[in-house]
Amino acid sequence: MIDFSNDLKALIDSPHKQWLDTLAPQLTTFNNNPHGNLKRWQRVIEQLPNIQTENYQLGDTVTVGSPEEASDSDRARITGLLQQLQPWRKGPFDLFGVFIDTEWRSDWKWQRVKPHIDDLTGKQVLDVGCGSGYHLWRMLEAGAKRVWGIDPGELFLMQFQAIRNMMPARYQSKAHFFPVGIEHMPELKSFDTVFSMGVLYHRRSPLAFLQELKSLIKPGGQLVLETIVVEGDETTVMLPGERYAQMRNVWFLPSAKALSVWLERLGFKDIAIVDHNTTSLEEQRRTDWMTGESLADFLDAKNPDLTVEGYKAPIRAVLTARV
Ligand SMILES: C[S@@+](CC[C@H](N)C(=O)[O-])C[C@H]1O[C@@H](n2cnc3c(N)ncnc32)[C@H](O)[C@@H]1O
Repeated sequence: MIDFSNDLKALIDSPHKQWLDTLAPQLTTFNNNPHGNLKRWQRVIEQLPNIQTENYQLGDTVTVGSPEEASDSDRARITGLLQQLQPWRKGPFDLFGVFIDTEWRSDWKWQRVKPHIDDLTGKQVLDVGCGSGYHLWRMLEAGAKRVWGIDPGELFLMQFQAIRNMMPARYQSKAHFFPVGIEHMPELKSFDTVFSMGVLYHRRSPLAFLQELKSLIKPGGQLVLETIVVEGDETTVMLPGERYAQMRNVWFLPSAKALSVWLERLGFKDIAIVDHNTTSLEEQRRTDWMTGESLADFLDAKNPDLTVEGYKAPIRAVLTARV
Protein backbone atom coordinates (compact mmCIF):
# COMPACT_ATOMS: atom_id res chain seq x y z
CA MET A 1 0.00 0.00 0.00
CA ILE A 2 1.26 3.47 -0.86
CA ASP A 3 0.61 6.20 1.67
CA PHE A 4 -0.73 9.23 -0.19
CA SER A 5 -2.02 10.96 2.96
CA ASN A 6 0.42 13.89 2.88
CA ASP A 7 -0.27 14.44 -0.83
CA LEU A 8 -4.00 14.40 -0.18
CA LYS A 9 -3.62 16.82 2.75
CA ALA A 10 -1.77 19.19 0.43
CA LEU A 11 -4.80 19.09 -1.88
CA ILE A 12 -7.15 20.24 0.88
CA ASP A 13 -5.30 23.57 1.13
CA SER A 14 -4.96 24.04 -2.61
CA PRO A 15 -7.17 25.51 -5.36
CA HIS A 16 -7.75 21.92 -6.53
CA LYS A 17 -9.61 20.77 -3.40
CA GLN A 18 -12.51 19.50 -5.51
CA TRP A 19 -10.13 16.90 -7.01
CA LEU A 20 -10.31 15.01 -3.69
CA ASP A 21 -13.85 13.78 -4.42
CA THR A 22 -12.70 11.61 -7.32
CA LEU A 23 -9.05 11.10 -6.43
CA ALA A 24 -9.45 9.65 -2.95
CA PRO A 25 -11.58 6.67 -4.12
CA GLN A 26 -9.27 6.18 -7.15
CA LEU A 27 -6.25 5.90 -4.86
CA THR A 28 -8.11 3.42 -2.66
CA THR A 29 -8.81 1.32 -5.76
CA PHE A 30 -5.14 1.64 -6.77
CA ASN A 31 -4.03 0.36 -3.37
CA ASN A 32 -6.59 -2.45 -3.38
CA ASN A 33 -5.35 -3.71 -6.74
CA PRO A 34 -1.58 -3.35 -6.53
CA HIS A 35 0.69 -3.91 -9.51
CA GLY A 36 2.46 -7.30 -9.17
CA ASN A 37 5.84 -5.65 -8.51
CA LEU A 38 4.65 -2.85 -6.24
CA LYS A 39 5.64 -4.53 -2.95
CA ARG A 40 9.11 -5.36 -4.31
CA TRP A 41 9.60 -1.78 -5.53
CA GLN A 42 8.44 -0.43 -2.16
CA ARG A 43 10.96 -2.63 -0.33
CA VAL A 44 13.68 -1.23 -2.61
CA ILE A 45 12.73 2.31 -1.60
CA GLU A 46 12.53 1.44 2.09
CA GLN A 47 16.07 0.06 1.99
CA LEU A 48 17.62 3.22 0.52
CA PRO A 49 20.00 4.90 2.99
CA ASN A 50 18.31 7.72 4.87
CA ILE A 51 20.85 10.53 4.49
CA GLN A 52 19.60 13.95 5.57
CA THR A 53 20.87 16.68 3.30
CA GLU A 54 20.28 20.35 2.57
CA ASN A 55 22.19 20.09 -0.71
CA TYR A 56 20.21 19.90 -3.90
CA GLN A 57 20.25 21.37 -7.36
CA LEU A 58 17.22 21.23 -9.60
CA GLY A 59 19.30 21.91 -12.71
CA ASP A 60 19.88 19.90 -15.88
CA THR A 61 20.95 17.01 -13.68
CA VAL A 62 18.50 16.93 -10.79
CA THR A 63 20.95 16.50 -7.94
CA VAL A 64 20.34 15.49 -4.33
CA GLY A 65 23.15 15.58 -1.78
CA SER A 66 26.85 15.75 -2.50
CA PRO A 67 29.36 12.88 -2.79
CA GLU A 68 31.02 13.95 0.50
CA GLU A 69 27.79 13.32 2.41
CA ALA A 70 27.68 9.61 1.56
CA SER A 71 30.14 6.76 1.94
CA ASP A 72 31.20 4.45 -0.87
CA SER A 73 29.05 1.76 0.68
CA ASP A 74 26.03 4.14 0.69
CA ARG A 75 26.65 4.78 -3.01
CA ALA A 76 26.96 1.07 -3.76
CA ARG A 77 23.69 0.53 -1.92
CA ILE A 78 21.91 3.35 -3.76
CA THR A 79 23.19 2.03 -7.10
CA GLY A 80 22.25 -1.58 -6.42
CA LEU A 81 18.78 -0.68 -5.17
CA LEU A 82 17.87 1.88 -7.80
CA GLN A 83 19.08 -0.43 -10.56
CA GLN A 84 16.17 -2.62 -9.44
CA LEU A 85 13.78 0.16 -10.51
CA GLN A 86 14.93 -0.11 -14.17
CA PRO A 87 14.16 0.99 -16.81
CA TRP A 88 15.04 4.61 -15.92
CA ARG A 89 13.75 6.54 -18.91
CA LYS A 90 13.44 10.19 -17.88
CA GLY A 91 16.22 12.13 -16.17
CA PRO A 92 19.17 12.52 -15.47
CA PHE A 93 19.54 12.44 -11.69
CA ASP A 94 22.54 12.48 -9.36
CA LEU A 95 22.03 11.11 -5.86
CA PHE A 96 24.97 11.61 -3.50
CA GLY A 97 27.35 11.04 -6.44
CA VAL A 98 25.40 8.18 -8.06
CA PHE A 99 24.64 9.38 -11.59
CA ILE A 100 21.47 7.96 -13.11
CA ASP A 101 22.09 8.24 -16.83
CA THR A 102 18.55 7.82 -18.10
CA GLU A 103 17.48 6.72 -21.59
CA TRP A 104 16.32 10.28 -22.36
CA ARG A 105 18.19 13.53 -21.90
CA SER A 106 14.99 15.07 -20.57
CA ASP A 107 16.99 18.21 -19.84
CA TRP A 108 17.23 18.82 -23.59
CA LYS A 109 13.43 18.80 -23.88
CA TRP A 110 13.21 21.24 -20.96
CA GLN A 111 15.71 23.55 -22.66
CA ARG A 112 13.49 23.59 -25.76
CA VAL A 113 10.31 24.22 -23.75
CA LYS A 114 11.49 26.60 -21.02
CA PRO A 115 11.98 29.80 -23.06
CA HIS A 116 8.33 29.71 -24.17
CA ILE A 117 6.46 29.12 -20.94
CA ASP A 118 4.82 31.65 -18.62
CA ASP A 119 6.81 32.66 -15.58
CA LEU A 120 6.04 29.87 -13.11
CA THR A 121 6.82 31.91 -10.00
CA GLY A 122 4.21 31.17 -7.36
CA LYS A 123 2.16 29.11 -9.82
CA GLN A 124 0.17 25.89 -9.48
CA VAL A 125 1.44 23.57 -12.20
CA LEU A 126 0.22 20.22 -13.48
CA ASP A 127 2.28 17.82 -15.61
CA VAL A 128 0.06 15.30 -17.38
CA GLY A 129 2.05 12.14 -18.16
CA CYS A 130 4.94 13.19 -15.91
CA GLY A 131 6.98 9.97 -16.19
CA SER A 132 9.55 9.77 -13.37
CA GLY A 133 8.71 13.35 -12.43
CA TYR A 134 11.98 14.78 -13.76
CA HIS A 135 10.27 17.85 -15.23
CA LEU A 136 8.30 18.42 -12.00
CA TRP A 137 11.63 19.23 -10.30
CA ARG A 138 12.54 21.58 -13.16
CA MET A 139 9.17 23.35 -12.76
CA LEU A 140 9.98 23.88 -9.08
CA GLU A 141 13.38 25.24 -10.10
CA ALA A 142 11.50 27.69 -12.34
CA GLY A 143 9.66 29.01 -9.27
CA ALA A 144 6.39 27.04 -9.18
CA LYS A 145 4.69 27.13 -5.79
CA ARG A 146 3.49 23.55 -6.06
CA VAL A 147 3.76 20.94 -8.79
CA TRP A 148 1.38 18.08 -9.41
CA GLY A 149 2.10 15.16 -11.72
CA ILE A 150 -0.27 12.48 -12.97
CA ASP A 151 0.79 9.32 -14.77
CA PRO A 152 -0.73 5.83 -14.69
CA GLY A 153 2.76 4.23 -14.81
CA GLU A 154 3.34 2.50 -11.46
CA LEU A 155 7.10 2.18 -11.93
CA PHE A 156 7.33 5.91 -12.66
CA LEU A 157 5.51 6.58 -9.38
CA MET A 158 8.07 4.48 -7.51
CA GLN A 159 11.00 6.23 -9.22
CA PHE A 160 9.48 9.58 -8.27
CA GLN A 161 9.01 8.47 -4.67
CA ALA A 162 12.60 7.20 -4.46
CA ILE A 163 13.92 10.59 -5.58
CA ARG A 164 11.47 12.59 -3.48
CA ASN A 165 12.33 10.66 -0.29
CA MET A 166 15.93 11.78 -0.67
CA MET A 167 15.09 15.46 -1.23
CA PRO A 168 15.30 18.04 1.57
CA ALA A 169 11.97 18.15 3.42
CA ARG A 170 10.83 21.50 2.01
CA TYR A 171 10.95 20.10 -1.51
CA GLN A 172 9.26 16.85 -0.54
CA SER A 173 6.15 18.82 0.35
CA LYS A 174 6.01 20.76 -2.91
CA ALA A 175 5.89 17.93 -5.48
CA HIS A 176 3.08 15.41 -5.77
CA PHE A 177 2.48 12.47 -8.11
CA PHE A 178 -0.79 10.59 -8.40
CA PRO A 179 -1.07 7.37 -10.44
CA VAL A 180 -4.11 8.35 -12.50
CA GLY A 181 -4.68 8.91 -16.20
CA ILE A 182 -6.04 12.18 -17.54
CA GLU A 183 -9.31 10.47 -18.44
CA HIS A 184 -9.98 10.16 -14.70
CA MET A 185 -9.55 13.86 -13.95
CA PRO A 186 -12.49 16.12 -13.04
CA GLU A 187 -12.87 19.51 -14.77
CA LEU A 188 -10.84 21.49 -12.24
CA LYS A 189 -10.07 24.69 -14.20
CA SER A 190 -7.60 25.46 -11.41
CA PHE A 191 -4.02 25.14 -12.73
CA ASP A 192 -2.05 28.16 -13.94
CA THR A 193 -0.01 26.05 -16.34
CA VAL A 194 -0.67 22.54 -17.61
CA PHE A 195 2.13 20.68 -19.35
CA SER A 196 1.61 17.58 -21.41
CA MET A 197 4.72 16.28 -23.10
CA GLY A 198 4.90 13.04 -25.04
CA VAL A 199 1.31 11.94 -24.35
CA LEU A 200 -0.96 13.16 -27.19
CA TYR A 201 0.09 10.41 -29.63
CA HIS A 202 -0.69 7.77 -26.99
CA ARG A 203 -4.30 8.90 -26.79
CA ARG A 204 -6.79 7.22 -29.11
CA SER A 205 -8.96 10.35 -29.18
CA PRO A 206 -6.59 13.30 -29.37
CA LEU A 207 -9.33 15.93 -29.51
CA ALA A 208 -10.98 14.55 -26.39
CA PHE A 209 -7.53 14.60 -24.79
CA LEU A 210 -6.99 18.27 -25.69
CA GLN A 211 -10.44 19.09 -24.34
CA GLU A 212 -9.56 17.30 -21.09
CA LEU A 213 -6.36 19.35 -20.82
CA LYS A 214 -8.37 22.53 -21.41
CA SER A 215 -10.78 21.65 -18.62
CA LEU A 216 -7.91 21.58 -16.12
CA ILE A 217 -6.56 25.08 -16.85
CA LYS A 218 -7.90 28.19 -15.18
CA PRO A 219 -9.01 31.14 -17.34
CA GLY A 220 -5.93 32.93 -18.69
CA GLY A 221 -3.72 29.93 -17.91
CA GLN A 222 -1.29 28.28 -20.31
CA LEU A 223 -1.11 24.89 -22.01
CA VAL A 224 2.35 23.62 -22.95
CA LEU A 225 2.03 20.73 -25.35
CA GLU A 226 4.87 18.59 -26.71
CA THR A 227 4.29 15.70 -29.05
CA ILE A 228 5.50 13.76 -32.07
CA VAL A 229 4.36 15.43 -35.30
CA VAL A 230 4.78 14.84 -39.02
CA GLU A 231 5.80 17.30 -41.72
CA GLY A 232 2.83 18.84 -43.52
CA ASP A 233 0.20 21.56 -43.68
CA GLU A 234 -3.02 22.29 -41.75
CA THR A 235 -4.69 19.20 -43.19
CA THR A 236 -1.95 16.62 -42.61
CA VAL A 237 -2.49 13.89 -40.02
CA MET A 238 -0.95 10.42 -40.05
CA LEU A 239 -2.38 7.35 -38.37
CA PRO A 240 0.42 4.78 -38.47
CA GLY A 241 -0.10 1.03 -38.67
CA GLU A 242 0.16 -1.26 -35.70
CA ARG A 243 3.62 0.05 -34.80
CA TYR A 244 5.45 3.33 -35.16
CA ALA A 245 9.16 3.30 -34.20
CA GLN A 246 8.33 -0.08 -32.63
CA MET A 247 5.76 1.51 -30.30
CA ARG A 248 2.38 -0.21 -30.35
CA ASN A 249 0.32 2.53 -28.72
CA VAL A 250 0.78 5.37 -31.22
CA TRP A 251 -2.36 6.88 -32.68
CA PHE A 252 -2.66 10.24 -34.42
CA LEU A 253 0.44 12.14 -35.56
CA PRO A 254 -0.71 15.55 -36.85
CA SER A 255 1.56 18.15 -38.40
CA ALA A 256 2.28 21.02 -36.02
CA LYS A 257 0.03 23.22 -38.18
CA ALA A 258 -2.83 20.71 -38.05
CA LEU A 259 -2.42 20.52 -34.28
CA SER A 260 -2.74 24.31 -34.14
CA VAL A 261 -6.03 24.02 -36.04
CA TRP A 262 -7.28 21.39 -33.59
CA LEU A 263 -6.44 23.70 -30.67
CA GLU A 264 -8.20 26.60 -32.37
CA ARG A 265 -11.32 24.53 -33.05
CA LEU A 266 -11.42 23.64 -29.36
CA GLY A 267 -11.36 27.31 -28.36
CA PHE A 268 -7.74 27.73 -27.28
CA LYS A 269 -6.25 31.20 -27.85
CA ASP A 270 -2.77 32.61 -28.57
CA ILE A 271 -1.66 29.34 -30.19
CA ALA A 272 2.01 29.22 -31.15
CA ILE A 273 4.30 26.56 -32.57
CA VAL A 274 7.44 27.36 -30.62
CA ASP A 275 9.73 24.45 -31.44
CA HIS A 276 10.21 21.78 -34.10
CA ASN A 277 13.00 19.27 -33.61
CA THR A 278 14.14 15.86 -34.85
CA THR A 279 14.92 13.49 -31.98
CA SER A 280 18.61 12.64 -32.09
CA LEU A 281 20.35 9.41 -31.21
CA GLU A 282 22.15 11.33 -28.46
CA GLU A 283 18.90 12.46 -26.86
CA GLN A 284 17.31 8.99 -26.62
CA ARG A 285 19.69 6.09 -26.20
CA ARG A 286 20.47 2.88 -24.33
CA THR A 287 22.39 3.41 -21.07
CA ASP A 288 23.41 1.38 -18.01
CA TRP A 289 20.11 2.47 -16.47
CA MET A 290 17.94 1.48 -19.46
CA THR A 291 19.48 -1.55 -21.03
CA GLY A 292 16.64 -2.41 -23.42
CA GLU A 293 16.13 -1.23 -27.00
CA SER A 294 16.18 2.50 -27.69
CA LEU A 295 15.87 4.90 -30.62
CA ALA A 296 18.83 3.46 -32.60
CA ASP A 297 16.99 0.11 -32.68
CA PHE A 298 13.74 1.77 -33.79
CA LEU A 299 15.29 3.45 -36.84
CA ASP A 300 16.25 1.88 -40.17
CA ALA A 301 19.93 0.88 -39.80
CA LYS A 302 20.59 1.88 -43.44
CA ASN A 303 18.65 5.15 -43.32
CA PRO A 304 18.19 6.76 -39.89
CA ASP A 305 15.75 9.28 -41.44
CA LEU A 306 13.22 6.44 -41.41
CA THR A 307 11.75 4.24 -38.69
CA VAL A 308 12.11 0.47 -39.04
CA GLU A 309 8.54 0.49 -40.40
CA GLY A 310 9.52 2.95 -43.15
CA TYR A 311 7.87 6.07 -41.69
CA LYS A 312 9.73 9.35 -41.30
CA ALA A 313 11.80 9.30 -38.08
CA PRO A 314 10.20 11.07 -35.09
CA ILE A 315 9.99 14.86 -35.16
CA ARG A 316 8.70 16.58 -32.06
CA ALA A 317 7.00 19.94 -31.75
CA VAL A 318 6.20 22.19 -28.81
CA LEU A 319 3.04 24.31 -28.92
CA THR A 320 1.76 26.79 -26.40
CA ALA A 321 -1.79 28.05 -26.08
CA ARG A 322 -3.98 29.90 -23.65
CA VAL A 323 -7.45 29.23 -22.24
C1 LIG B 1 6.66 9.41 -23.70
S1 LIG B 1 6.33 9.48 -22.00
C2 LIG B 1 6.60 11.20 -21.69
C3 LIG B 1 7.09 11.49 -20.29
C4 LIG B 1 7.43 12.96 -20.01
N1 LIG B 1 6.23 13.78 -20.02
C5 LIG B 1 8.42 13.48 -21.00
O1 LIG B 1 8.02 14.26 -21.87
O2 LIG B 1 9.58 13.12 -20.92
C6 LIG B 1 4.56 9.36 -21.99
C7 LIG B 1 3.99 9.27 -20.59
O3 LIG B 1 2.58 9.38 -20.67
C8 LIG B 1 2.03 8.53 -19.70
N2 LIG B 1 0.62 8.27 -20.03
C9 LIG B 1 0.11 7.32 -20.87
N3 LIG B 1 -1.22 7.37 -20.86
C10 LIG B 1 -1.58 8.39 -20.05
C11 LIG B 1 -2.84 8.92 -19.62
N4 LIG B 1 -3.98 8.41 -20.03
N5 LIG B 1 -2.84 9.96 -18.75
C12 LIG B 1 -1.68 10.48 -18.30
N6 LIG B 1 -0.46 10.00 -18.66
C13 LIG B 1 -0.41 8.97 -19.52
C14 LIG B 1 2.93 7.30 -19.78
O4 LIG B 1 2.81 6.48 -18.63
C15 LIG B 1 4.30 7.94 -19.91
O5 LIG B 1 4.91 8.19 -18.68
